[in-house]
Amino acid sequence: MSLITIIGRGHSGTRAISNTLAASGVYMGEPLNGSWDLVPPQDMYDACKVFAKYVDWQGGLSWDWQRAFAAEPPPEFVRLLKSYLKSVLASNAEHKGWKIPETTLCFPWIHKLFPEAKYIFWIRNPRDCIIGNHVTDDMRRFGIDYPDTVDERERRAISWRYQYDLVKACAKPEQWIEVRMEDFVLKQDETLKRLETFLGFPLVKIPVKPEAVGRWLIDDQDTNTRTNYYDMFEPAMREYNYEMPAAPVSKTAAFTPNYEETKVPAYTLPELLRRNNGVGVQNKEQWPARRAEILDIIASQQFGRMPTKQLPCRFTVVEEGEAFTGKARRQQLRVFFSDAPLPAMDLLVYSPKNASGPVPAFLGLNFHGNHTVAADPDIILANGWYRNNADYGVSDNKANAASRGKATETWSAEYLVEQGFALATAYCGSIDPDIDDGFHNGVHPLFQAPGWTGRADDEWGTIGAWAWGLSRGLDAIEKLCPAIDAKRVAVIGHSRLGKTALWAGANDPRFAMIVSVQAGCGGGALARRRFGETIWRITTAFPHWFCLNYNRYQDAEATMPFDQHMLVALAAPRPLYISSAADDLWADPKGEFLALKNAEPAYALFGKNGLGQDVLPPLNTPIGDSIGYHLRPGKHAVTRYDWEAYVAFAKKHLG
Ligand code: GCU
Repeated sequence: MSLITIIGRGHSGTRAISNTLAASGVYMGEPLNGSWDLVPPQDMYDACKVFAKYVDWQGGLSWDWQRAFAAEPPPEFVRLLKSYLKSVLASNAEHKGWKIPETTLCFPWIHKLFPEAKYIFWIRNPRDCIIGNHVTDDMRRFGIDYPDTVDERERRAISWRYQYDLVKACAKPEQWIEVRMEDFVLKQDETLKRLETFLGFPLVKIPVKPEAVGRWLIDDQDTNTRTNYYDMFEPAMREYNYEMPAAPVSKTAAFTPNYEETKVPAYTLPELLRRNNGVGVQNKEQWPARRAEILDIIASQQFGRMPTKQLPCRFTVVEEGEAFTGKARRQQLRVFFSDAPLPAMDLLVYSPKNASGPVPAFLGLNFHGNHTVAADPDIILANGWYRNNADYGVSDNKANAASRGKATETWSAEYLVEQGFALATAYCGSIDPDIDDGFHNGVHPLFQAPGWTGRADDEWGTIGAWAWGLSRGLDAIEKLCPAIDAKRVAVIGHSRLGKTALWAGANDPRFAMIVSVQAGCGGGALARRRFGETIWRITTAFPHWFCLNYNRYQDAEATMPFDQHMLVALAAPRPLYISSAADDLWADPKGEFLALKNAEPAYALFGKNGLGQDVLPPLNTPIGDSIGYHLRPGKHAVTRYDWEAYVAFAKKHLG
């Protein structure tokens, strides 16, 4: 009788071996899911959490498992594991075993409990392992700490590395075999023989798919590294003979941001109020000409020029109803960008039902789909491409009902309605998917001349398209939303969409107010400070957001004919609000404050007051008159606190 355990990170292709074992008469427990995993997994998950209490994260990619190695598995762990494995343990089959990727997370204690078992360690090229999402991507769910990252692929890579390091650090069971998934697929006979020798019984040959090998080569969703490679893979890739990338492709992973104020270089900002011909701007009458110059500089050098061609956009009301226990009216509008059904954008609008007249509104793009904005089952799940995201339950690049309401606080729609505001929002990916796809998706092709082969240096990118889409959202409001006063619409956005809000506000004077949240590099933060994210990093990681000219300023910020104070000043004299988060150093809170500070002269031309102080305010202290700012504690996110500040500012300016 033999007991077999398969170890291997999620997406390592472990189903190939458990399928083989099951087909060869090994009892793999019951019930099994489609990956031949023994389910339900909850007890195994809980067991992993017990194990995690014995793991000490030491920062970076370093974890100490000594306490776990030294301890006997506690009774709680044993109970959970036995409960998870009950069908296997109770079976009298001659050969039995189990597989579930989470096993790897608590492998040392499984080894202690089943020292006699035969362990098959299944390995796959990590570049292929991190393409799809897996429950272990975010190891915090299992109680394991790791360095924060907003890059989901990097998060998967970290989980991969953790599991590799853990297996390597642990003493090997006596009966242990390591098998590369690629060998199983490409040299199946040879690999089956090895496994048969190890297991001591014959194995059935299951059908395998050669295209499962090297999937990263055709993966086009890897926006950060382009080749799914992170330096943290190197030891494992060398150990298991995976070909290393020839060029230093993991450029972005190698980037070390500066977070020290003392290392901020000395800099001089281009003068906001000096015309290109050297003449100073003295009064508000001279501002429009200077403003046009700035707009042209930033269009040609950073975001790309907005297209001048008008598209035959069509606007329709798709659905209307009520929400938030009758407090709100809901409208769902569809904007068709051409005569065809796609691309199209759904604009979700909530407005106060009992308003006595048209109300002011916030209009912004969302990251994950309208259905995430509120737990309102009537929100339409839009078509189009969605970034895979474990937290939002998206694994096939399609909108998923599991993510309904996940961004409720981020949008605080009910609160806005209670405060007398409308909220209008659309999914950014329905204007242009956030992937570097050569501009073959989204609205870009609608503007490309026949025979277009690639972008001119000043041709727009994804942020430009999103900003353009926001203006179409405002068109839709003007045409179809009597509940909203279209002259009192604030454009708002977070992070990459906060850069977008600034650019939309700059291009479309109809936006009555502009709110940009933690937009950081390329948004509200001064580039010359090189604090946190830099132009090199952002253009390397997200080349599709900007125009090609922006690459000129990689590590050459001092040569820029502009800086972000000029971008934010394009809002003048309209009310402008930026907020930062103290832990979000990547977005350089102080750099955002200073950009606003240096935009004040444009407001002064109109007799308008700006921030009212020269130094960063204390936490949770909104400041400013026509230019507002606050710094709150916490992370990169939009919180209810943030909304309360925007609402107070909007009440002052939009009434
Ligand atoms: C990345 C990127 C930032 C961006 C952020 C976001 O962190 O480097 O520039 O603002 O993503 O959009 O969340």
